[in-house]
Amino acid sequence: MRSFQHIVNSLRRGEGVTDDELVLLLEGSCESDAYLTSQAREVCDGVYGREVYLRGLIEISSYCKNDCYYCGIRRSNKSAQRYRLTPDEIVGTARAGYAAGFRTFVLQGGEDPYFTDEVVEEVVRRIKDDCAGCAVTLSLGERSRESYARLKAAGADRYLLRHETACEKHYEKLHPESMKLTERMDCLRSLKDLGYQTGCGFMVGSPYQTLENVVSDLRFIESFRPHMVGIGPFIPHRDTPFRDKGAGSVPLTVRCLAIVRLMLPRVLLPATTALGSVGTGGRVMGLLAGGNVVMPNLSPPQVREKYSLYDGKVSAGAESAEGIAALRRELEGAGFKLSFEVGHSKM
Ligand code: 5AD
Repeated sequence: MRSFQHIVNSLRRGEGVTDDELVLLLEGSCESDAYLTSQAREVCDGVYGREVYLRGLIEISSYCKNDCYYCGIRRSNKSAQRYRLTPDEIVGTARAGYAAGFRTFVLQGGEDPYFTDEVVEEVVRRIKDDCAGCAVTLSLGERSRESYARLKAAGADRYLLRHETACEKHYEKLHPESMKLTERMDCLRSLKDLGYQTGCGFMVGSPYQTLENVVSDLRFIESFRPHMVGIGPFIPHRDTPFRDKGAGSVPLTVRCLAIVRLMLPRVLLPATTALGSVGTGGRVMGLLAGGNVVMPNLSPPQVREKYSLYDGKVSAGAESAEGIAALRRELEGAGFKLSFEVGHSKM
């Protein structure tokens, strides 16, 4: 087995590394973590500098027809507080964000049948009309190829759909029978074909996940070459079947981010809300390992608590639009600069 320096150097040069070598990096140690993350950060500096792109997250609905075992807004959770924003509320939220300097809006929600193509098209058109030069990212789960095509034609620029796990057996442990990994992958391929800047991603430390599963996720990302990758730790939610499962590890999440940065130097890589939610400094750790995006919450304050994917999800402070000054200070303190550019992918 080669030393971790050799493995990291190979990744950085775009040369092959073996699965066992990836496992060695994922297992980590003080020395290898320090080297891995510093190399990933250098690569990111070379492409994006110290600029961190800002995205305004608007959580449009907590209704979901799916029943993913890990997720707090799963259909079977009778304690979940359900809401959906009206088109006017969504557009109004985006306009307020635009005034505050946001140039990307991420419309995320459960798979809520209320949000038909017609409804989403109208919302996308209105945001693109009212907010000149902005980008709209959708994160509304699995839809038909026709639906994705219509939303693209209405002006949507990007789509986030985490694959959750690239291993079929593991996917079945996280989802009910009705959900299939092949469907998820078909959706991702359609999105990319249709010209979306496409994002996939996975949870670190989701129940039953092995390091071999994580290697599969990294290999999938390497071959799919998405424009964006969302990676955050699994965090249990009290009203789900996984309530008693342990949370994912922050160091392992940070190693995954760094490896993805080395594999795809130009990818857009957020320091996710989940990473920012598990203890202090998570977000900055993500950026120091090669992250270059933050996604503060723009949702109206009265619905924020209801969009409860996992326990302890942060939504105030630096995660809110009001907290943007605090966010800027936090980033500047770590040597980064908050960018108000639209921040398209350089893939
Ligand atoms: N912990 C961490 N992330 C979660 N997500 C859903 N539930 C959880 C949880 N319990 C993530 C999924 C989904 C994204 C919107 O939120 O990866 O794709």
